[in-house]
Amino acid sequence: MTSDNIIDTSKPSAGRIYDYLLGGHHNFEVDRLAAERVSVALPFAPKFVRLQRWCLQDLAVELTAQRGYDIIIDFASGLPTNDHLHHVVPDGTTVIYSDYDPIVVEYAREILADTPNTHFFQSDARRPEELLDRPAVQEILAGRRNVALIYWGIAAFLSDDDLLHAVRALYEWSGPKSCWAFQAQGGDVNMDAPSIQRVREIYASMGNPLYLRSMNHVHQLIHPWRSDEPGFVSLLDWHSLEQHTLTVEDRIALGEAGGGYGAYLVK
Ligand SMILES: C[S@@+](CC[C@H](N)C(=O)[O-])C[C@H]1O[C@@H](n2cnc3c(N)ncnc32)[C@H](O)[C@@H]1O
Repeated sequence: MTSDNIIDTSKPSAGRIYDYLLGGHHNFEVDRLAAERVSVALPFAPKFVRLQRWCLQDLAVELTAQRGYDIIIDFASGLPTNDHLHHVVPDGTTVIYSDYDPIVVEYAREILADTPNTHFFQSDARRPEELLDRPAVQEILAGRRNVALIYWGIAAFLSDDDLLHAVRALYEWSGPKSCWAFQAQGGDVNMDAPSIQRVREIYASMGNPLYLRSMNHVHQLIHPWRSDEPGFVSLLDWHSLEQHTLTVEDRIALGEAGGGYGAYLVK
């Protein structure tokens, strides 16, 4: 993703389009217009971003209550609104959010003012080591490296080279008992469907090309991480949604999975 349009409020930004599709208010007219174009092309888009956020809440509970992590480091967080991680994790969990969009960071710090154990840093998910090695983050972590990591709703914005770099940097940095909640957008998405082509054109014209990948491709890129049981799960199954949530047109474009898969990656 280029950085030009993340500080230029006369151009739409992927993060603010996402916020608008989620029903948020941290966006500008130009973002709302772009979001409407996305929704016209792909009527399932608002439901897709909502589903993605519900799944994020599910994994926050799984990582903390089930898997026992009390430190979560989230990359490309978007706005920490009242449906984000810190609202669903148990008290005492440390949440380190990050995003590369300075406007998101500014809004986020307003939203989180005085929220205990919750931090928001400006950082680029293409180079996670820059966040992890930052002195302020090191101080919060106090040497701990067996942590929960999250890349949710971001892989489609990273090129193969950027994703490969992130995969390796996280593998090298993290402790052997770490867990990485990872979402891959794409899966069985029909790249030839006119609605998908139109959405890709809209993002490409903003300078944010979308990388929608087959699951084979994803498996190659995430090596040497491996997916813990039950492997990659469609977002519909992740959040136990019924197939009838998708219209026939949605299914033709997005495939039966609803546009993406998530997994818990371990070493
Ligand atoms: C689709 S939203 C996902 C938000 C959240 N993770 C979720 O799943 O609900 C994508 C976010 O990624 C951010 N983003 C895009 N590219 C990024 C990058 N290279 N580094 C950090 N953040 C990035 C955008 O600013 C936006 O806030």
